[in-house]
Amino acid sequence: MPQGRRTCSIRPRACPVGAVAKPGEAAQATAHDTIAPPILPHPVQFPAMSRYWSPLVHRLTPYVPGEQPKLARLVKLNTNENPYGPSPRVLEALRAEVADTLRLYPDPNAERLKAAIAARYGRTPNEVFVGNGSDEVLAHAFMAFFRQKQPVLFPDISYSFYPVYATLYEVQTRIIPLNEHFQIDIGDYRQPNGGIIIANPNAPTGCALPLADIEALCQANTESVVVIDEAYVDFGAESAVELIARFPQLLVVHTLSKSRSLAGLRVGFALGQAELIEALDRVKNSFNSYPLDRLAICGAVAALEDEAYFATTCTRVIQTREGMVAELEALGFEVLPSRANFVFARHPRHDAAQLAAALRQQGVIVRHFKSPRIEQFLRISVGDEEQTGVLVRALREILA
Ligand SMILES: Cc1ncc(COP(=O)(O)O)c(C=O)c1O
Repeated sequence: MPQGRRTCSIRPRACPVGAVAKPGEAAQATAHDTIAPPILPHPVQFPAMSRYWSPLVHRLTPYVPGEQPKLARLVKLNTNENPYGPSPRVLEALRAEVADTLRLYPDPNAERLKAAIAARYGRTPNEVFVGNGSDEVLAHAFMAFFRQKQPVLFPDISYSFYPVYATLYEVQTRIIPLNEHFQIDIGDYRQPNGGIIIANPNAPTGCALPLADIEALCQANTESVVVIDEAYVDFGAESAVELIARFPQLLVVHTLSKSRSLAGLRVGFALGQAELIEALDRVKNSFNSYPLDRLAICGAVAALEDEAYFATTCTRVIQTREGMVAELEALGFEVLPSRANFVFARHPRHDAAQLAAALRQQGVIVRHFKSPRIEQFLRISVGDEEQTGVLVRALREILA
């Protein structure tokens, strides 16, 4: 590739005046902090590459997170955050933790948190790994388990960070297409591999596999690690945690970002037999001794201890989702069956990108992926009742 500068592929009006688009932002035509961004006089430029970068960095195509707009009045249904705040007990615990002790490093092993997770999920602390968001846990899993002679298998439509980690850690991949109903067929994973990673429920489809399928997958696949990413499992899917005792190759990854309303605190964890956890600890301790700070540890413990709040808010999200699905279907959308805190929907007569843009004009942000097979879908997070009402009214107006 030639050196030099290349033009930002974002349409100029998507960049606020004075802002310089970062390379990772180029793939996604998202505005930054305003609904109707001003017209830029010139295309934005950024360095395409540098002679100082390593060859690997030249090959990276970083993950592009959903937009975090600065305007508070937007109805933000684009990154699957929980519409309800964290448990009041979390906020209380965090306030108490803001103290002189912040000058001290946190516990590198987050023992308190591991004990709380182990107690909640019926495992032992040496079967728990914690990280700075489940993204970090997943990244360490790619490094720890998937750098093999055979390729790692994952669906063509899934969490878009998986191929990014694969490139970063130079892991070979074999992409397995979802079937024509956008479902994972576990029979497709019966082939030689260096590991398998599946999000269950899958993202961005929201569709879930039954526990029996995960069990069958583990029974058939004993020679490499099977990672089940359960970021959304608490919204109505079946968890594979109960299979851990029987399958030494099974690693189940969770996050506190969704069902525990703590996306801003950055806490994720993995459960698996001690042998797998030891591998993750080796990677973590070769990378960052203190991935979880004192506030993250203490807030996460408080969240795990407030089971009643967790159960109530998950139930509310599930109920709102079911009502939202009914409203979307009444408007003519085809909605994939969701067990997550979002739905994946397409309209037979309306272009998804145009719908997303029209919603944006009405102050509602949803996620649209310009990827093969799913470019006519919108991924819409489940908000609270009021946000869902705004979404449905906006769609009614747009479709009229
Ligand atoms: C399937 C899936 N896994 C993992 C994550 C990462 O979550 P976090 O890093 O916030 O724990 C996400 C985030 O949206 C996700 O959709």
